[in-house]
Amino acid sequence: MASSRALFNPTLTAHISRAASKGFSSTATTAGLRTSYVALNPFNASSRRNFSVSHKAQLDFFPPPRDLPNIKQTPASWPHPTATDEQLKAIQVDHREPKTFSDTIAYNTVRLLRWGTDIATGYRHDPNKPYVMNERKWLIRFIFLETVAGVPGMMAGMLRHFRSLRRMKRDNGWIETMLEDAYNERMHLLTFLKMAEPGWFMKLMILGAQGVFSNGFFLAYLLSPKTCHRFVGYLEEEATKTYSFAIEDLESGKLPGWEKLEAPEIAVKYWNMPEGKRDMKSLLYYIRADEAKHREIHHTLGNLNQAEDPNPFVSEYKDPSKPHPGKGIEHIKSKGWEREEVI
Ligand SMILES: [Fe+2]
Ligand SMILES: [Fe+2]
Repeated sequence: MASSRALFNPTLTAHISRAASKGFSSTATTAGLRTSYVALNPFNASSRRNFSVSHKAQLDFFPPPRDLPNIKQTPASWPHPTATDEQLKAIQVDHREPKTFSDTIAYNTVRLLRWGTDIATGYRHDPNKPYVMNERKWLIRFIFLETVAGVPGMMAGMLRHFRSLRRMKRDNGWIETMLEDAYNERMHLLTFLKMAEPGWFMKLMILGAQGVFSNGFFLAYLLSPKTCHRFVGYLEEEATKTYSFAIEDLESGKLPGWEKLEAPEIAVKYWNMPEGKRDMKSLLYYIRADEAKHREIHHTLGNLNQAEDPNPFVSEYKDPSKPHPGKGIEHIKSKGWEREEVI
């Protein structure tokens, strides 16, 4: 909503036509995207360098919380589970081999989407080619990916909700986990929007991607929810990979602008980031763990009977001493839990 409002306001329309008449010249426009970008210098607003043609809209669409007469604050509806430093660092890139025909369809669809997104966001991480990523390109990629990542959870939750209503049957706890997944992805997006703001062209791309992806996912979920969960599992494998590469770049000194960058307040509150661990690097570790959690959730749900099985992530177990799925990452399984292990 906010992005489409910003996209069509009169000031922005004037900017768009001015930009169109000037033509586009930055490296980012070869990728078809621009961001106005404050992450390299977040503490000095006057020296912000705007890469966006829509810089007048800056912060308009993402204002700070208002000071209201009665409301003190509005905390997160789903508090984020805590995680230790060791748990965050133990997350690894992994891949579940496709086992069935529908797994193969899901995996190849993700590969195709990844190829398209890499081109659109100017992403390349091939050790045999010259290094192209920088702080701004990473943020473009994160923002674009997170606007898409929030779709499946909401769509799956909504469709299961409707299914429960029309069939007059219980859902067995899946809906909440799906909505929480979507909420968590949106928190990723809101966090990155505190560091960079999309230009009008990127907003247009996001609008288009959401239109296509949400409708496609809606139809696909009606046809085969199992394939859709597997698909999201593979998507999250890619997300875990993306954040792992970004962490690797940051730790190897390729992203100097992020070395001393503090995490935005919204992130500190949401992830409950402890004192001394409130920087960009810690933030990327938290987000990567979330993506790995989504990978586990969707690969697991892809293994279950969609109509009858309860959600293992919110279930109580007969033998709680045995490792089992839960909200946190203490027993995280990168390839998901098999049905026999949990039901
Ligand atoms: Fe995410
Ligand atoms: Fe995710």
